[in-house]
Amino acid sequence: MKLLITLLGFVAVVFIGVVGFAYSGLYDVSANTPHNGLTTWLLKTTSHASVKRQAESVEPPDLSDPSLVEAGVNDFVAMCVACHGAPGEALSAMGQGLNPPAPDLAESATHLSAKELFWVTKNGIKMTGMPSWGVTHGDEALWPMVAFMTKLPDMDGPAYQALLISAQGKGHHSGDENEGHSHGEMSDDEHGAEEGHHGSTTEPSEPSEHDHSSHDH
Ligand code: HEC
Repeated sequence: MKLLITLLGFVAVVFIGVVGFAYSGLYDVSANTPHNGLTTWLLKTTSHASVKRQAESVEPPDLSDPSLVEAGVNDFVAMCVACHGAPGEALSAMGQGLNPPAPDLAESATHLSAKELFWVTKNGIKMTGMPSWGVTHGDEALWPMVAFMTKLPDMDGPAYQALLISAQGKGHHSGDENEGHSHGEMSDDEHGAEEGHHGSTTEPSEPSEHDHSSHDH
């Protein structure tokens, strides 16, 4: 009985301490300061284990088709480059200010499977800047970007630029997204690559300049 009371007292003190800390304003939420080592470990470990587990049930299509990679690069430019960067290009201001930072996906693709890359792209990661693209995109729109990401480890700046040029006018957006694009930092070249696929879009109802008129910020 005595032990139980001591235990309950201890739990109450911890609870009051945690709630008190939350209300105190002492925790620094600024994105300028990194998490401490313990928090970083806890968040990363939880996140990695969760992605690994949840991605097990994902069934990848055949990703070897080169046209899939070309289709993926256009959406990658429109939706991912601002935070993650691209081979041979300077990281945007938004990408530089993120905490936790958006990893270099060329590096990620060396340790994440296609299933895991897909799962993160589709579902996002809570409490980080990584959005859930599955909210606005069907699976078939996301797999081309996964195909592209699997090629990133072997892609240097010139190879990336060559891919952008060859994808111009061929690939097109999936069409089921209408906002959420974050391409404020795109270079003229990238704009060129983006404009290129309006011509081949299959959605007649899609306004031709939708990419540029429906920014959500
Ligand atoms: C607004 C910024 C932002 C955008 C846009 C964004 N991401 Fe992310 N992404 C992040 C951040 C931040 C993380 C790191 C999350 C973490 O620390 O676990 C991340 C993580 C990831 C990861 C996991 C990498 C790893 O090594 O664990 C993948 C894969 C990924 N993003 C793919 C994409 C793709 C594909 C797109 C475009 C469709 C995209 N992201 C767009 C911010 C972004």
